[in-house]
Amino acid sequence: MLRAVYPGSFDPVTLGHMDIIRRSVKIVDELIVGVLNNNAKMPLFSVEERVKMLNDVTREFSNIKIVPFEGLLIDFARQMNASFVVRGLRAITDFEYELQMSQTNHKLEPDVETMFFTTSIEYSYLSSTTVREVAAFGGDISQFVPEAVAIQLNRKMNEEKERVMNEQPN
Ligand code: PNS
Repeated sequence: MLRAVYPGSFDPVTLGHMDIIRRSVKIVDELIVGVLNNNAKMPLFSVEERVKMLNDVTREFSNIKIVPFEGLLIDFARQMNASFVVRGLRAITDFEYELQMSQTNHKLEPDVETMFFTTSIEYSYLSSTTVREVAAFGGDISQFVPEAVAIQLNRKMNEEKERVMNEQPN
């Protein structure tokens, strides 16, 4: 049984993440999408919201589970009995961080390997950070995220705007 963990912040899940998910579920028996619960990163969406959105957009796959995690990725991979960690590599800028992370994880647990997917060209520029920024300024995010996520992101941005306006003194 080949079980892999695909970890990330997914704040929010993008079409780039979906591309990696779609390609990895074909290769592994079970894919566990690990959603990092780390409030120090000040995510826009709570971990519950991120898990829900991922569940919504991955319904078509039968061999996938969305599971929140805290602490070390490698401990989570062990808990899940996963022998692989899946990560996407976009450009050379990702490489240094990903190499460091995979080597550290391999030192911590030599039985868990990291498997890299090079991001499909049409998504190589895409990141959750830029998607949040485009959405914050009212730009069209429909080509960057699944439709259900675009709805939630626009709703969240409107809530944020209202919150800021209510905080301003009259
Ligand atoms: O989507 P992201 O933010 O690029 O994902 C980063 C993530 C969640 C994979 C990484 O921050 C992580 O694994 N965090 C858990 C703590 C840990 O194990 N750190 C790595 C030791 S090198």
